[in-house]
Amino acid sequence: MHLKTVSTKRHVSINKINKKAVEHSFSKAAQHYDNFSQLQRDIGEQLLKKIARTEVENIIDLGCGTGFFSERLLSIFPDSQLLCFDISPVMLQKAKQLKLCNTTYLCADIDDLSQFDFQVDLIFSNMVVQWSDDLSAAIDAIYQQLDCEGKLYISTLLDGSLQELATAWKQVDSYLHINQFKTEKDLCKIVSDSAFKHAKLTQETRVLEYKTVTELMHALKGMGANHVHGYQPVNMNGYGIIKKLELGYLPFKTARRLLPLTFQVCYIELTK
Ligand SMILES: C[S@@+](CC[C@H](N)C(=O)[O-])C[C@H]1O[C@@H](n2cnc3c(N)ncnc32)[C@H](O)[C@@H]1O
Repeated sequence: MHLKTVSTKRHVSINKINKKAVEHSFSKAAQHYDNFSQLQRDIGEQLLKKIARTEVENIIDLGCGTGFFSERLLSIFPDSQLLCFDISPVMLQKAKQLKLCNTTYLCADIDDLSQFDFQVDLIFSNMVVQWSDDLSAAIDAIYQQLDCEGKLYISTLLDGSLQELATAWKQVDSYLHINQFKTEKDLCKIVSDSAFKHAKLTQETRVLEYKTVTELMHALKGMGANHVHGYQPVNMNGYGIIKKLELGYLPFKTARRLLPLTFQVCYIELTK
C-alpha cells in the first residue's frame, strides 16, 4: 500500500497513559524480561526482515527494552551509530550490560520525541508504540527525527488482542482489565494523515497457549505488559479471582485443554 499524505487532521488522544506506572511495570519486569519475551522476539524478527538493506549510518531502537534488537540491528549494520531509547532506566541498564559498540543510551518518553533533534536514517520500534499517548503526534515527531528518505519500522498490537482474557474477566467484574488497542483502520488513518511518503501495513495473528490462568497472568507480568491504563491492579493472589477467571476461560479451552491468548500484530513500514 502506498499512501500519499497531505491531510493535516489530527487524532486527539483522550485517555492519558500513566507513564510512571508503565515505566514501573517494565522496570519491574526488566530483570526477567528475556525469559518471557519469546512473542516479542518472534515479532521483532519479522520486523527485522522487512528492513531495506541500504546503507545506514544512524539508528534509533525506540523502546529498546533489554537491547536484544539493538544488538541484532548492529549485527546487520555493524558500522552504524545506535541510540538505545527507553522510558525505563532499568531496561536501559540491562541493555548497557550488552556493552554494544557505537551505542549511546537515552531514558526518555516516546511522547517527548519532539524535544530532540537526532536526524537518523533508521528508526526501529518493536512492540512499543501501543504505550504512546498520542500515536499521531509520535509519528509526526519520529518523522522529524529522520533524514530525507529515512525509514521507520514499527510493530504494535491491534484491537482484538487479549480478547479471551478480556472476556474471562467479565466473570469477575465489569471493569476493563486489558488495554484498548487501535484498530487497523485507526492505524491506516494515522499513517495516511502523516507526512510519510510511502507506507506499508501488514497484519498477522499470533496465539500463545498456557496451561493455567496463573501461568498466563504470570507471563503477562513477566513481559511487563500488565499495566492497564486507568485501573487499579487487582490482587491476583485472590483464589476466588483465579477460579472465576478459569470459569470465564472455559469456552476458549483448546482441544488440548490449553488457554489461548490472541495477539493481533501490525507491522508498519514507513519512508520519509
Ligand atoms: C514490550 S517491550 C519491547 C522491548 C524491545 N523493543 C523488544 O522488542 O524486546 C516495550 C518497551 O517499551 C518501553 N516503553 C514503554 N512505553 C514507552 C514510552 N512511552 N517511551 C519509551 N519507551 C517506552 C518499555 O520500557 C519497554 O522496554
